Amino acid sequence: MTKNERGTTIIILGATGDLARKKLFPALLSLYKNAKLPKNVKIVGFSRRNFKNLDFRNFLTENVLALQNSNEKISSFLNLIEYSEGKFDDSVSYESLIALIQKIDQEFGSCGDKIFHLAVSPAFYEIVLENMYKTGLTLSCTDGTGKTKIIIEKPIGHDLKTAKEIHALINKIATRDQIYEIDHYLTKETLHAAKALVEEKELKNIFNNEHIESIEINLFETKDIEGRGEFYDSFGALRDVGQNHALIVLSHMLQDAEGLMDIQKKRAQILKSALELDPKDSQYIMRGQYIGYLEEKGVKENSDAETFFRFPVKLQNDKWKGIKISIAGGKGLSKNEVSIKIIFKKPENFNLGTKNLQNIKEIIFRIQPDPEAIFVDMNNKIEVIPLKGKTYQGHSSESYEKLFEEVFKGNENLFVSEEEVEASWKIVDSIRAAWTKLPLIKYEKGKLPKMSIITDRPTR
Ligand code: BG6
Repeated sequence: MTKNERGTTIIILGATGDLARKKLFPALLSLYKNAKLPKNVKIVGFSRRNFKNLDFRNFLTENVLALQNSNEKISSFLNLIEYSEGKFDDSVSYESLIALIQKIDQEFGSCGDKIFHLAVSPAFYEIVLENMYKTGLTLSCTDGTGKTKIIIEKPIGHDLKTAKEIHALINKIATRDQIYEIDHYLTKETLHAAKALVEEKELKNIFNNEHIESIEINLFETKDIEGRGEFYDSFGALRDVGQNHALIVLSHMLQDAEGLMDIQKKRAQILKSALELDPKDSQYIMRGQYIGYLEEKGVKENSDAETFFRFPVKLQNDKWKGIKISIAGGKGLSKNEVSIKIIFKKPENFNLGTKNLQNIKEIIFRIQPDPEAIFVDMNNKIEVIPLKGKTYQGHSSESYEKLFEEVFKGNENLFVSEEEVEASWKIVDSIRAAWTKLPLIKYEKGKLPKMSIITDRPTR
C-alpha cells in the first residue's frame, strides 16, 4: 500500500449472501487480476457470521474463489480483504465496522473513498440505511477528500409508495450523487448496440409513430425461480423484472439520443409519458404461474404470485403516441430470449449497416442470449451484426465489474435515477391494480402462455 495516496474501501454488506458470493466477489477478483481496482484498495465483508478475517478469507476461497482457475493472484487478493461481524439491525455492529474502516484509513494515511454495496434483501434496505446514517457511515470525509458512495440493488420498494419512502430516506441520509441504484440491464452491450442501430440514419427516419404500429418487448427465461421462493413469492415476476429490466429496455430504446438532457432524464421522460391504463386495453394484461410453482421451497400455500406477466403501455409524446406497446416476461417459459420486436405499419426499405433491406415488415433485435452479436430478425431472415469490443453478458459478474468501474469513476449513466424508478413503479402499480380482477393463468413449465396480438385491427 502506498501511504498518503488516497485509498478506497469497498464494503460489502451481506458479504456471505448469494449476490456477494456469486457476483460481487468474483467481479472484484477479476478487476483485481486485470489491475482495474483503485490503486490503494481494501475490501471489507460485513455479515452476521461469527468469522475472523482468516475464516472469511477461507470462506471466500472455498465458496467463491475455488471456482476461479488461476490461483496465483488469489492469495494477494485475499490479503486485501477484512471482515466485520455484525447484524443489520444492531447499531453496535456498525460501530465495529466504523472502527475497522478508520483503522484502514489510518493505514492509507488519509481519509479514503468508501463504497458500500447493499448486497442484502430489499427488506433490510431501510434498517441498514438508517443505521448507516445514525452512525455517520454515510458521510464523506470532512476534509473534502474521500467520498462515500452507496450502491443499491433493485427492486427499490415494492410499489410507488414504498419506493418513495426509501428515496425520502436516501435523500435524508445522503446526497443524490452518492447513490448508485442498479439495473444491470444497462450494462448489456447488446442493448446499447440495438439502440445504436435504430439511431442509424435510415432506420431512425422510420423509427416513430408514423411508421411503427407496435413494439413488443419480451424477457423470457426458461429457468425457474431457482430456490428464491421467499423473495419471488413476495415480489413476483412483474416486480422482479418488469418494473425494472423490461421498462429500462423500453426507455433506453425510445429515449431521444440527440437531445442535450442527461441520459437518466431522457429515459425518465419516456416512462413519465406513459398514459394511465385504458380499461379497454386490460384485455392485453396477463398474469400466469407455472404449474409446480406452489411446490417450490419458500412459496406460500395457494400463493398467487405470478411467474409470467404481460402488460400494455401507451406513451403520449409526439414521437410515440399511438404505438401499441406490449411488455412480457417470466420464468419457466419455452425459450431464453430478451428481444425487442418492431412491427411496421407497411413494409419498409432501408439500409442497416452495410445491408440493403427491402420490404421489411418487422424487425426483432435479440439482445439475449448471445452477447457477441446482435441478431436482427427481418421477415424471419436472421441478420447477424457482430458487436465490437468487450461484451457483458447476462446477470453475470462481468456486469458487476462494469458497474464497479463506473462507481469508481463516479459515472451515473449506467444506473437509474429516482425519477426513473418512481415513473416505472407508477406504470407497474396501475397494472397491478387492474390485474387483481384477472384470472391467474396456470401454464406448463417450458411452455409460453398464448398471447394475443396487440393491435387495434380486428385481425392480422
Ligand atoms: C434479476 C432477476 O434481476 O435478473 C432474476 O432478479 C432474473 O430473476 C435476472 O433471472 C435476469 O437477468 P439476465 O441478465 O440473466 O437476463
